[in-house]
Amino acid sequence: AHRVFDPRVSTGGDRVKYSRIAGTGSYLPDKIVTNHDLEAIMDTNDQWIRERTGIRERRTVIEGETTATLARAACQKAIEAADVDPNEIDLFVMGTTTPDLVFPSTACLLQKQLGLPDCGAMDVNAACSGFMYALSVGDKYIRCGDARKVLVCGAETLSRIVNWNKRETAVLFGDGAGAVVLEASDEPGILSTHIHANGNYVDVLTTNAGISVGWDAVAENDGKPEIMMRGNEVFKVAVRTLGRIVEETLSANDMDKTDLDWLIPHQANLRIIAAMARMLDMNMDHVVVTVDRHGNTSAASVPLALDEAVRDGRIQRGDMLLLEAFGGGFTWGSALIKY
Ligand code: UT7
Repeated sequence: AHRVFDPRVSTGGDRVKYSRIAGTGSYLPDKIVTNHDLEAIMDTNDQWIRERTGIRERRTVIEGETTATLARAACQKAIEAADVDPNEIDLFVMGTTTPDLVFPSTACLLQKQLGLPDCGAMDVNAACSGFMYALSVGDKYIRCGDARKVLVCGAETLSRIVNWNKRETAVLFGDGAGAVVLEASDEPGILSTHIHANGNYVDVLTTNAGISVGWDAVAENDGKPEIMMRGNEVFKVAVRTLGRIVEETLSANDMDKTDLDWLIPHQANLRIIAAMARMLDMNMDHVVVTVDRHGNTSAASVPLALDEAVRDGRIQRGDMLLLEAFGGGFTWGSALIKY
């Protein structure tokens, strides 16, 4: 039976003050698709892709690999790094917009494979902001005392929903997964999370088919729905909106941009990342960049970047981290974390 836990920490019966990241993990499929590989199949070129996006290569799944297989590997690594018993996890939240199936959710598909108890397990769809949304859910469950340990994952197989004949989108996306284990803590921890959406922009970044609207549009793309994006419009709103949420996040914590040690941004475009760094007066040495090797992995990009910089020793315990993401919806989100 699922363990019933005391929703209070040991200090005087107060609710838990913080959730903290106990461990991180990530996983990328083996197959590498370089810009030169793409030159061979569509009218694009390495120089354009590098100059306009910063991407040199991306990973894609092969037959037999799915969002769940990537997520499983990332979650296992996070559980191992956190050194927690999977049976003690009280909630599993997955940010994904490319689930294996309509249902059960990807989180449910993985729950028993990961050795989790009969805890709540759900997918959250907030497109590229999926991990930020999932993280905010996990953080809130811990802070309100209803969970002590939460597994949070962002995983995607965007390669399955791009039209590989369309250079405007095909060159941008990649597949991967990243995860964190959160646990209750008296010390920070996640200082705050922020999530937003604006449905006025549904048409600017969307897919052209789906379960309930039907599949009429998919004939064009080998029977698959595809990502439709007016990139230039997304770019402008993304920079403006991320600028706003960064200010919101710092001011909610009475902090200044000089308090930050690391920016861990969503990896859609190196020019957007550089604009954020300029806005924060941060040297690019303090920005974790993976877009050159991963492309845009949507909900997986922030936890992938976080795990990379934790494992290579750049991010140290006690460092102040700002995580942010922007994506379809539009949705956007951030977190300020004392690692
Ligand atoms: O993660 C969710 C959020 N997504 C984003 O944040 C994405 C934001 N947008 C972007 O990153 C950029 O807008 C893109 C990388 C998608 C596009 O860059 P851009 O500088 O905005 O280019 P553009 O769309 O304005 O296109 C410029 C030119 C066009 O040619 P003309 O009309 O000037 O002759 C395109 O046809 O580049 C052409 N083009 C390409 N050329 C070679 C577009 N895609 C390609 C390509 N290879 N793959």
